[in-house]
Amino acid sequence: MSEDDDAESETADDGDTATDEPTPVGVKLGSTRTVIAIPDGSGGLRTVKTLTCLATYEDAITGEERVLYGEEAAREYPDRVQYTLRSGLPEDEDRAELTATFFESVIEANDVPEDSAVVYAIPTIDNEEGLANLESVIEGSSIGEALIRSYPESLCGAVPALGDELEAVDDIFVTVNLGSTNLEAAAYRRGEQLAPFTTGAVTGNEVDRMIANYVEEETQGRVNIDTTTAREYKEEHADFVDFEPFTDIIQQPGGGSHEFTIERSVMDAVDEYVDEAVEEIANAFLPELANDYIKVYQLALDQPIVLTGGMTCIPGIVEEFEERLSEELQRDVEAVAPDDPSLSAAVGAQRIAERLVDADAY
Ligand SMILES: Nc1ncnc2c1ncn2[C@@H]1O[C@H](COP(=O)(O)OP(=O)(O)O)[C@@H](O)[C@H]1O
Ligand SMILES: [Mg+2]
Repeated sequence: MSEDDDAESETADDGDTATDEPTPVGVKLGSTRTVIAIPDGSGGLRTVKTLTCLATYEDAITGEERVLYGEEAAREYPDRVQYTLRSGLPEDEDRAELTATFFESVIEANDVPEDSAVVYAIPTIDNEEGLANLESVIEGSSIGEALIRSYPESLCGAVPALGDELEAVDDIFVTVNLGSTNLEAAAYRRGEQLAPFTTGAVTGNEVDRMIANYVEEETQGRVNIDTTTAREYKEEHADFVDFEPFTDIIQQPGGGSHEFTIERSVMDAVDEYVDEAVEEIANAFLPELANDYIKVYQLALDQPIVLTGGMTCIPGIVEEFEERLSEELQRDVEAVAPDDPSLSAAVGAQRIAERLVDADAY
């Protein structure tokens, strides 16, 4: 298959297109996962996707501090793994420094070229200090020697849903980003963001907390799971098209194990999530957009609404959202999503970087 490690490492010096142009790279530093999109040297993209977490440990021989990141860190050091962007942005200098250490480790391990033009997909959150901390991570990193730019994550994420190139930037549309820490919505008019809306009340993280609570209820208090396990249940089993009950086993504190089946907890939580998301869009975001930009509102609602963000990965969620929003608004609206919503912000950012390189913007 094409996922051959050796083949990937050859792309560093792809001989056929030897130019001095920097490599266009797209990056999304997300609260749950970080994604990087890099040209693979043969016209396609190579994507790196990892949990945004790290753990440090002491080298058993030299005593030096070592860094482990991503799935490996989460699996091997559950006791001290740190999710450095848990709230969406680095809250303070310590978090910023940890995020920088994490990011540099990912860059190094995946040969992300330093001679690059890098576009970052950034959340729309009104938190100056957090944004400044994120900027310090971005500016301090070893990549992006030629150029560093930031664009809203919801615009970047919508790009792959609206065409093979940058059609989204010539369009008028509404987009809704279903993320871990926020629900974001905005209209875009030829790349200009209008009526940005953010709420921390309807989130993937909240769904994980609900799943953990519902599992306790569904098992009559016999099973307590943490939110990481709840997230894994959601990512593996949530499905509006054909959900199937599943079983899991926990080790009892006193020894022995307990097997249990989950029938309702996951789908009850995601079902409430979709209702709440529709409610926010229909009754908070869209009225504001209509109030400020009535023409844009009308034009945009005649187009499909673009859903992005990791929660959009749940099978059937786009159709559920479309149906429930149509009902709430009492008019037909359509919804679409990119092929892989978990990668689309980085892929869209990469296309913008490519355009900037082509335009000699560096
Ligand atoms: N395959 C999947 N199925 C269900 N939920 C998913 C899937 N992949 C990611 N998610 C959820 O999407 C959220 C992360 O979305 P993302 O847009 O990456 O968030 P952020 O920008 O806040 O980091 C998390 O709640 C995560 O569990
Ligand atoms: Mg996000």
